[in-house]
Order: sequence, then C-alpha cells, then structure tokens
Amino acid sequence: MKWNSNLYDNKHSFVAEYGKSMINFVNVGKEQKILDLGCGTGVLTNELAKNGATVIGTDLSKNMIDKAKSNYPNLIFQVEDATSLPFKNEFDTVFSNAVFHWISNQEKLLHSVYTCLKDNGTLICEFGAQNNISQIQTAFEKVIEQKGYSYCSPFFFPSKEEYKLLLDQAGFEVKHIIEYDRPTPLADEEKGLRNWICQFFASDLLEFSDEQKEQILLETEKLCKNSIWKNNQWVADYRRIQIIAVKNKNNRTK
Ligand code: BEZ
Repeated sequence: MKWNSNLYDNKHSFVAEYGKSMINFVNVGKEQKILDLGCGTGVLTNELAKNGATVIGTDLSKNMIDKAKSNYPNLIFQVEDATSLPFKNEFDTVFSNAVFHWISNQEKLLHSVYTCLKDNGTLICEFGAQNNISQIQTAFEKVIEQKGYSYCSPFFFPSKEEYKLLLDQAGFEVKHIIEYDRPTPLADEEKGLRNWICQFFASDLLEFSDEQKEQILLETEKLCKNSIWKNNQWVADYRRIQIIAVKNKNNRTK
C-alpha cells in the first residue's frame, strides 16, 4: 500500500500518542540499542532516542521514511522489509507499535525479529488483537460486496493464545501478553471515519471512481452510526494485543 504520510501525521497522530505508553516498558538507557520496527514518520523513534539510546527506525514505506528523515534529521531511518531485516544479534530491544497486523507471514516476521535481537534481547510490541475494528471492517465489507466487489481483509488480528503459540515456536519466552479493548476517538468530528478509511483502506478504494468512493464512504458511515458514533465523534473499536517476549537462544527449535 502507498502510505499518505501527511494524512498520517495530521489526522492520525493518535497512533503514535497511544504508542508512547508502550515506551514505558523499554529500557531506553544510553548503552541500549533499539530497533523501532515500522517506525512510520518517526515520532516514537524520536521518543525512544531521547535518553541517548542508539535507535534505528525502519519501515517498508519509502514515503514514511522520507517524512521521518525530514522530521528528525539526526536519527537513522532505513527502508526495510520487516520479514527480512538485515541485522544479526544487534539489538537489545525490538519495539513495534501498530505494525504487526499488516504482515501476513508472521512466522517469517518473528524469525526476522529473533535474528535481529541479541541473546536475551526483548521484543516489545502492540498491535491489533482478535476482533479489532470489527464494526468498521464488517460495515465496509458489506458495502463493497453489495456493489458486486469482493473484500479480502489484509489484516492479521490474533488472539493472545494464538500469538503466544507463534512466539513459543519462534523461540521467544513470553513474559507478558494481554488483549484489551481500546476504543479510539478519531479526530475531525464527522469526517473522522472517512479520513480513517481513506488512510487505512486506501488500497481497497483504488479501483473506484471518486463518485463510487463517496458512496462507499457514506454507506459505511451509515452502517457504523449506531455502534461507533458516540457523543458527536467517531470512536473506532480498536482491540490491542500487548507483548513482552525475550529471545532465548536455547528455545529455538528451527
Ligand atoms: C490498528 O492500528 O489496529 C489498525 C489501523 C489501521 C487498519 C487496521 C488496524
């Protein structure tokens, strides 16, 4: 998907704001080396670097990396595929916020993360859990299918049991894993849901004309109104999975 980095920074800054609480789990001391995996426009990379840790931000999107470099010229950013990172036994921590659900090959992803970490290094991440955005996705799917098109969700939203198994199999020792509801108010009052859809479902909308797109947005808003329009704003039905897992080199079987 081609990411719109300006829309992301202007209207979806909440993604990074929520991610800041995850930084409390990270040892950000001077001697630490941290990878911010899927760093977007670099807001959290910058937070992670504030105490003097060495931090590298990577993202698959060149648009995002260009914006991150211009936002924070003193930090290191690289375009990289999370499933084939070019690092070996390098990082004390791999940190990632709101990224893993975009990646379909989770075995490859976890193998790549495992390889990047030093022995006893830590993966600290949060992303969409089972039933994340189910109201929005179900409404969008219904509208698209009523128009004779098919919708195939690109997302991976696991339960904590399912993900613990994947982490175990990849050789991690799971220290903390929880799932929780995190209702998320969207900026821009009545425009909030359409902004969100235009940003995050951009590739599903590519094949439609402007007129069809407007119709899809209106109909999706209508279907979502009862469930996620609350006190004059859209509140997205986010569910999160939060993980702290340690690389244990004796655990890996493959
Ligand atoms: C999320 O952060 O949960 C998310 C964002 C955009 C699309 C799907 C999920």
